[in-house]
Amino acid sequence: MRRQPFVAGNWKMNGGLAANAALLKALLQGLGAADAVEVAICVPYPYLDQVSRLLRDTPITLGAQDLSPHTAGAHTGEVSAFMLADFDCRYVIVGHSERRISHHESDDLVAEKFGAARAAGMIPVLCLGETLEERRADATLEVVFRQLDAVLSRHGVTALAEAVLAYEPVWAIGAGRTAKPEEAGIVHRALRQRVAKEDLAAAADLRIIYGGSVKADNAAALFAQPDIDGGLVGGASLDADEFLAICRAGFGKRTT
Ligand code: 13P
Repeated sequence: MRRQPFVAGNWKMNGGLAANAALLKALLQGLGAADAVEVAICVPYPYLDQVSRLLRDTPITLGAQDLSPHTAGAHTGEVSAFMLADFDCRYVIVGHSERRISHHESDDLVAEKFGAARAAGMIPVLCLGETLEERRADATLEVVFRQLDAVLSRHGVTALAEAVLAYEPVWAIGAGRTAKPEEAGIVHRALRQRVAKEDLAAAADLRIIYGGSVKADNAAALFAQPDIDGGLVGGASLDADEFLAICRAGFGKRTT
């Protein structure tokens, strides 16, 4: 099993040259022995150059928040996976609910983006999650399976060997309302079982992280769930002390 705990910060549309430098300095000073947990931060495109320079030869890995499904050409405003790779981006978020909802990204488009990331050697962090209405209608698993199956049917289960799943219930994002650890744990277990139906080893190795109002005071309880391998952290990743405390909560997990 190679499920090293993983905590990724998603800065969303936040940051600035001076603020980024200060935040990274504090994170790098505070991180210390980071072997047990892998830490990444996913920054807005304009800051990839700055942040990739500041993270060179450090334990923190760089990621982006989205990418184009295309490789090059007449796609005004788009950024390709190969451009991201130029900045040493290792991870890229695909299918974040803020993009599925505000930018009308379909399951098929998300699957295309997943493939574009893999083709450039990057690791997609595939976000899956239900809305409050869907949860109330008892459709949580139906929704996350549909979102996952769009990727599996296009790329096959082997594509998950170099990918991370992020279960992010839409109703818990930025809401200050987190899924209860057991509640999230049930969905994580169901996702792993779904993958196991296709490939047991792939399921055992797959990192499935949780996102949605992860904070310093709830991270350890979430990460203690056997199928939760870390977190995708929005708001709390903008505060060094808070994010460091969340990263430390990942240390308690098994590392082999
Ligand atoms: P918050 O941690 O701000 O709820 O955001 C979660 C998220 O969307 C991470 O991608």
